[in-house]
Amino acid sequence: MINMRTVLNLFFSGILITACQSVSNNDEWVDKALDVASCQLKLTANELKDSTVMPRSLWTGYDVAFLESQLERDASTFADSLWANPPKEKLRTRRNCSIYDWTSGFFPGSLWYAYELTGDESLKAEAIEYTNRMFPVSKYKDNHDIGFMINCSYGNAMRLAPNDSIRNVIVETAENLCSRFNVQIGCIRSWDFGHWNYPVIIDNMMNLDLLFNATNLTGDEKYKQIAVRHAYTTMKHHFRQDFTSYHVVSYNNDGSVESQGTHQGKNDDSAWARGQGWAVYGYTSCYRETKDVKFLEVAINVAEMIMKRNIASDKVCYWDFDAPVKKDTPHDASAAAVIASAFLELSTYVEDGRKYFNYAEEILKSLSSNDYLSEKGDNKGFVLMHSVGSLPHGSEIDTPINYADYYYLEALKRYLDLKK
Ligand code: GLY
Repeated sequence: MINMRTVLNLFFSGILITACQSVSNNDEWVDKALDVASCQLKLTANELKDSTVMPRSLWTGYDVAFLESQLERDASTFADSLWANPPKEKLRTRRNCSIYDWTSGFFPGSLWYAYELTGDESLKAEAIEYTNRMFPVSKYKDNHDIGFMINCSYGNAMRLAPNDSIRNVIVETAENLCSRFNVQIGCIRSWDFGHWNYPVIIDNMMNLDLLFNATNLTGDEKYKQIAVRHAYTTMKHHFRQDFTSYHVVSYNNDGSVESQGTHQGKNDDSAWARGQGWAVYGYTSCYRETKDVKFLEVAINVAEMIMKRNIASDKVCYWDFDAPVKKDTPHDASAAAVIASAFLELSTYVEDGRKYFNYAEEILKSLSSNDYLSEKGDNKGFVLMHSVGSLPHGSEIDTPINYADYYYLEALKRYLDLKK
């Protein structure tokens, strides 16, 4: 028979268990990062709650002499592609974007990761709210980045709060993404602007996760087959001998290569840092979904190249591996966060994975230091500082950007899972 003392004992041990569970076993730097991230994301979610936009970055300006020194060429060679400098009063204010911008899915995705990392239900409520905002994108076909947009928002919703309407959004978007695939060329088309015949950017490897997701949800292999074909074609034409990647490869209609070059990097032959991050991340995902060792080999080769070519002492790479390193050369926290997240996953697929884990840990510790992590309430609600969007366009130089926050949180999640 249960007496009063037993009841009290059960009661108090229950309180104790609950209290113990709320005590974190994380390192102090991780707890601080999660605290800052939750606070920043909630601030932003609250500020934008009555709008239809997403937070993207902070407006930055540029000085042409600085761009010339980073690009090591005369302004006349890039003047045509420069964005207008924003007016002074706009500088360091938040640059919001519409749901049709390629970065729109990252804020909802960050809310999902922050919820997953903390268990805070108010973050889940915001994640649902901001993911729902993305719904019209499931009808949109004019952009290859619908993979990023929907997989980071609805893809995470499907992991953490699955239901049939989320599934339908993912499958419909995958159909739309496949409509951009050309059988003759063997790739999904990237941009619809510019002088190229059929441009495919290394970034496009990141859109394949949506296709893998659609196959996993439906059992229909066609999405995965297109992803695999795209990855094989890219493997053939995007990489140089040293496993650095071109940013843009354009194809002729018969599938031959029209040109290999850059849009956001220092020059056509350089190794634009985020592009190298997209490459190692994309091929690691392809290996996860197919177990094809050719994909694993590419991921490893790119990872080794990154460790050799990234000369930043804090491991948060400079914006382009070939940029001249001067005191004002910007680091790119977004590239570092993508690399960290990819390396953590890659570390689980190879016997000597510890080196990738350690490298990612170094990056995460740097990003979580005062050099990159915002103070609570600062940085216009973004988590990390110091990313670069497109230096040759004079756009988003040394500024917070939503995808840096997203991959940082994803990397923290992967890191904590592996530590366990
Ligand atoms: N996908 C565009 C970028 O990485 O900036």
